[in-house]
Amino acid sequence: MKAAVMDLTLKTPEQIERMRRAGRIVRLALEALREMIAPGVTTGALDARAERICLESGARCLFKNYSVPREPFAFPASICASVNEEVVHGIPSGRAIRDGDIVSVDFGVKLDGWCGDAAETYLVGNVPQQTRRLVEVTRNALAMAVGMIRPGGRWSDVARAVQGYVESEGFSVVRDFVGHGIGMDMHEPPQVPNFVSRELELNDIELVPGLVLAIEPMVNMGGYKVERLKSGWTVVTRDRKPSAHFEHTVAVTDSGVTVLTE
Ligand code: MF3
Ligand code: CO
Repeated sequence: MKAAVMDLTLKTPEQIERMRRAGRIVRLALEALREMIAPGVTTGALDARAERICLESGARCLFKNYSVPREPFAFPASICASVNEEVVHGIPSGRAIRDGDIVSVDFGVKLDGWCGDAAETYLVGNVPQQTRRLVEVTRNALAMAVGMIRPGGRWSDVARAVQGYVESEGFSVVRDFVGHGIGMDMHEPPQVPNFVSRELELNDIELVPGLVLAIEPMVNMGGYKVERLKSGWTVVTRDRKPSAHFEHTVAVTDSGVTVLTE
């Protein structure tokens, strides 16, 4: 369907280079946190570090004070830190990370009006084999998606391949949270699911040069169902089994794809 492409804002090569500058700050912070993560470190300390890197780079932290109607308060931190069975939107706190945990960190910044958004899941010490596999499969799922993007392609083909891969490994793709277009706003059309549905097939995303997407598979070890804690924001798996999350901001180019957050 061509219609879907009409309400999307395509970015010029110059705008994409500006987004890459925002993406570099996101990556710088995520790499600093990778070095820092260890048993005893609190998620609040990770948040403070990412925020400082963002502000020192002259950027603004996108998540801080972000509000959506369904949540009881604005997001109070600069990163989302989601541990083990937490899927997304974990709130940084005095909680200390422990040996054997996995920690998904999502971070976004705006620099000179342009956004970058990325996520990584980190292993802490001695993580059980099956959980390591979950994290590896989720990282591979994102790499697979990026590798399949080409101008003239359709997103449903990518989503089908990612879902098939994840499910062939015995894991599941989260349905309730999806990737998104990104540009001067963090969330722009279209929605970018990593699973196929009738809705996607009827309203496919045509991959055209200038389209910029935040691709963010969330993969659960058990069932795909998730729930939001009543206290707000934090999303956990229904079965309380672990979940992993990787995200990149990527642009479709004339010749293929370029990753803006690497
Ligand atoms: N990467 C997340 C997303 O695209 C960031 C939102 S976290 C929030 O939804 F706190 F800002 F909501
Ligand atoms: Co995102």
